[in-house]
Formats: sequence, C-alpha cells, structure tokens
Amino acid sequence: MSKMKIAVIGCGKIANIAHLGPLSKMDDVEIKYAVDLIPERAEAAGKNYGAGQALTDYKTALQDREVTAVYVLTPNYSHYTITMDALRAGKHVFCEKPITTNYALSKEMADEANKRNLILNIGVCNRYHKSVELIKEYVEQGKLGEVYHIYCSFRAFRSIPGLGGPFTIKAQSGGGVLIDWGIHYLDLILFITGIKTKTVSANAYSKLGKDISKYVYKDMWAGPPVPDGVYDVDDMVTGFIRTTGASISFNGAWAQNIDAEEGGYIDFMGDKGGIRLRYGGHFTYYTTENGALQTVKPDYNIPDMYTREDLRFIEAVRKGIKTRSHIDRVLESARLLDAIYESADKQVEITLSS
Ligand SMILES: NC(=O)c1ccc[n+]([C@@H]2O[C@H](COP(=O)([O-])OP(=O)(O)OC[C@H]3O[C@@H](n4cnc5c(N)ncnc54)[C@H](O)[C@@H]3O)[C@@H](O)[C@H]2O)c1
Repeated sequence: MSKMKIAVIGCGKIANIAHLGPLSKMDDVEIKYAVDLIPERAEAAGKNYGAGQALTDYKTALQDREVTAVYVLTPNYSHYTITMDALRAGKHVFCEKPITTNYALSKEMADEANKRNLILNIGVCNRYHKSVELIKEYVEQGKLGEVYHIYCSFRAFRSIPGLGGPFTIKAQSGGGVLIDWGIHYLDLILFITGIKTKTVSANAYSKLGKDISKYVYKDMWAGPPVPDGVYDVDDMVTGFIRTTGASISFNGAWAQNIDAEEGGYIDFMGDKGGIRLRYGGHFTYYTTENGALQTVKPDYNIPDMYTREDLRFIEAVRKGIKTRSHIDRVLESARLLDAIYESADKQVEITLSS
C-alpha cells in the first residue's frame, strides 16, 4: 500500500500528546509537513517524529498535490478557516474538537465537506475510549433498564488552560470550560445514548481568572499565562437539559475554590442499574440480582483512544467512509453548546428546534 502523505497543522500540546506519535508509527502514513506559526515547534516535530518539511504557512502544504489529508490542531477559531481552505484545496481533514467557535460555522464546515465528498472528522476522542464503547453496549443491551437521568461533573481545582491566550479569549475560543471540557462529556453522553436534546437551562460564570496576574494555579495546559492577555470566558458552568430520553444535568469548572479530588465523572442512572464512569478511566456498574445489591468493576485494558481515532481517520479517508466521529455525527453537540451559552447569556430556557 502506498503511503498516504499528510500535513499536521499546529504542533502544540495536543499534536505532541495525541497525534504526532501515533501518526509517525503508521507504516502507511508519511507526515510530509509539520506546520506551526512558531517555527521551533514545527522543527521539533521533524526531530521528534520524523515529520518532513517544517513550515510556518499551512497554505504551502495545501498546494502540494501529493498531500491527501491534513490535521488541524490549532486554536478553536482557526479550525474554520484552515479546514475550509483545506477542503477547498481537495484535502480530507481531521480537525480537533470543538468543531469551531459556534454551530453556524460548524454547519458550514460540514456542508463544504459533504459537497466535495471529502472526509471531515472531529477530535471527539472519547468516542474511541474503551469504557465509552462498553457503556454504550450496556445501555443498548438494557443492563441499565430505562436510563432516566445522567449527571456529569467536570470540575477541577485550579486548571484554567493558557490563561490570557487563545483558550480564554472568547472571540478565539468560542467559550471557556464548557466548549473546552464540557464538549467531551456532553458529546459522549449523546453518543452513548443517541438521545436528541429538546430544551436547555444554564448559567455560566467568569470569576477566578479575571485578574490574570493574581490567579494562583496548580497546573496550566498550554501555558504559561499571558499577563497582559484577555480573560472573558466561563470558568464555571451549570445546567439542565431535557431530551427525547434521559434528562441531563451538569457542573463544570476550569477553576473553583474547592479541590475536586474525585476528578471528572459521569453517572448514568437507570431503573435496573447505574454506571459511574470515571472520566478517561474505568467504570463501576451497580445493579441488583436475586434480591442483593451488586457492584461490578469490569477489568479490561484501555487502549490509547487517540491512536484509535487516528487509525479510524486514515481508514475513513482510504475507504471513503463516515466513521463515528464524522462531523455530521458531531453537529448535535455543537448545537447543544450554542444553546447552553445562549441560555446563560439570556437567562432563559432555550428550546432546540428538532
Ligand atoms: N481532544 C482533546 O482532548 C484535546 C485536548 C486539548 C486540546 N484540544 C484542542 O486542540 C486544539 C489545539 O490545542 P492545544 O492544546 O494543542 O493548543 P496549543 O496552544 O498548545 O497549540 C496550538 C498550536 O497551533 C499553532 N497555530 C496557531 N495558529 C496557527 C496557524 N494559523 N497555522 C499553524 N499553526 C498555528 C500555535 O502556534 C500552537 O503551537 C484546540 O482546538 C483544543 O481545543 C483537544
């Protein structure tokens, strides 16, 4: 099989943690270009992962007819422009989550990909997590009975990412903890249950990161802070969602004055059984059998979800198939994020059109 030539655009944190490694190990893939506005980052991708040419302008890679697909691993606002440019240049695209900063632009991206018969997958990596797949099977097999409520908590102690930079500037990120972390939780809930959302009532708060120079933190993804930067996004969000099936409630915080020692989790409450999924880890299944309570902690190996999503993307491009993370199947969660923010802004319940 001939090697598929790809370009990786954006060589920051997620490129290094999730994608460059798996892609560099695939026998049938060649990373022909590594692109980043910061030249040293593109060059490091060559040194560490054998990527070919280092570039600062992604358009050079798009002009190369040999390039079949591109990875868009840049800040949220640029997903739209870079993905649209890549599709118009005839390239298949893997674009990190969230699709982009809002639903309208996300829909345009989907329409462009479909019009051109090109694959556009979104980095909803949890759909490739072994625990998520198993819970989906449990739900479909009726092991939980009727799932009537789902609660998720994605709260951290003091973990605002890239304070002052693209993560915390609303015009560039589309929002804060909800669009950055909440997307993973809400998207995997929709994926597991297949429910459609009906109404949303939410509140969002921007409190702890406001004074950038005084913010005290434990860790910072994509840091260090930008002291003269901007912070105008949510660092805490809460809400209630009615759906065609189970209702959903959620609390999320990039930062709060409570140590969230238990980490993130999702509770699936059914009338026959319940499940607590430790985000990114294993799950516990609670049920009853012969009049006795049962607590089951299934033991299994969790393969790297990023490797699995990358393999499936390359396969999707080769075979021209829509996999579980094709943009068409992720738009529903983008629409939900918009409605949550609208509800918080207007302080009213929002009805999502069917
Ligand atoms: N799937 C996940 O779990 C996950 C986790 C973290 C981040 N992400 C997403 O990945 C994206 C990137 O996040 P990150 O944490 O890697 O951020 P980052 O800041 O560490 O890296 C982004 C990189 O993109 C580069 N860049 C910006 N504009 C560019 C352009 N026009 N051309 C080329 N390079 C450009 C920046 O210089 C930077 O090196 C975000 O959309 C984020 O939401 C996904």
